[in-house]
Amino acid sequence: MSEQSPNDQFLAVERTIGEIQHADGARLAELRVDLLGRKAGRLTQILRSLSSLPSEERRVVGLRANDLKREIESALASRESEVASRKASKQVADLTMPGRSAWRGAIHPVTAVVDEICEIFRDLGFTRVSGPEAETQEYNFTKLNISLDHPAADMQDTMFLSPGIVMRTHTSPVQARTMEQYEPPIRIVVPGLVYRRDAFDASHAPVFEQIEGLVVDEGVSFVDFKAAIDFFVKRFFSKTTAVRFRPSFFPFTEPSAEVDVKWGDGWLEIMGAGMVHPAVLENCGIDSERYTGYAFGMGPHRITMLRHGIPDIRLLFQNDMRFLGQFVE
Ligand code: PHE
Repeated sequence: MSEQSPNDQFLAVERTIGEIQHADGARLAELRVDLLGRKAGRLTQILRSLSSLPSEERRVVGLRANDLKREIESALASRESEVASRKASKQVADLTMPGRSAWRGAIHPVTAVVDEICEIFRDLGFTRVSGPEAETQEYNFTKLNISLDHPAADMQDTMFLSPGIVMRTHTSPVQARTMEQYEPPIRIVVPGLVYRRDAFDASHAPVFEQIEGLVVDEGVSFVDFKAAIDFFVKRFFSKTTAVRFRPSFFPFTEPSAEVDVKWGDGWLEIMGAGMVHPAVLENCGIDSERYTGYAFGMGPHRITMLRHGIPDIRLLFQNDMRFLGQFVE
């Protein structure tokens, strides 16, 4: 290279400068050494050879060399900072970085309980059906043998949408709708929301889930009811959970019962139930001489609270991810 004339050396260096703006990483570092390196840098060599030039030429070559040196320095600096910032921004999308794990959804604990209960009854031949949440007073009360002077039918407890139309206060109206529409044998479970004018506190909510059950056929007896509930409790709670049937009253069942399960040292109520009142069968066009049936209603919110030891029903409505996150499997 030292045999080249200074002019050839300049031209070669100038061609190399063009490469700087496309160079990357190792090549860029190489170019810096190749051009400006203290020992063998090409520009260093040109400057070093100045002393052997005639004085006239020395001045011209010296000026040109210094211009070129500044040009090279600024080209290297700007390319180096470009590469450095590109590398920094690339790191934001570093493909070797571990990914964020995906959000996992979960079934709401009340929904899980509703589904589980319906599946247990499905094994006993029950079909899952639904009915309207806005109901007539007739289906919500009258057909179920609840007279409109009964306290349950009162404005105090019931949300009215308009005269004669209420938000259903229980899922029992679907009993009447089903009996009117289908011939026995009938075996249904009816999950759904029900509405009551109630406080919203730790143990009450103005809207909550119920599951209605209804069986109508020839020769259905209270023993069939007890057997079905016993099967359900053993499947849902545990094989050793004790069940107790307590006499109670509902206008639409006779006899009526409340079902308790043994819970710790005490008993906890899980449903109201009974043999379908003959007046209800007749109101729905079913021959009460030929057919009998049983019905029950339970509260999945309450059962969910029992199952998980949840102290406040409001937790089941607020959709706070800190609470619901505990049910992600
Ligand atoms: N509908 C009753 C309630 O809401 C529960 C029930 C259903 C009782 C079916 C007996 C038979 O409390």
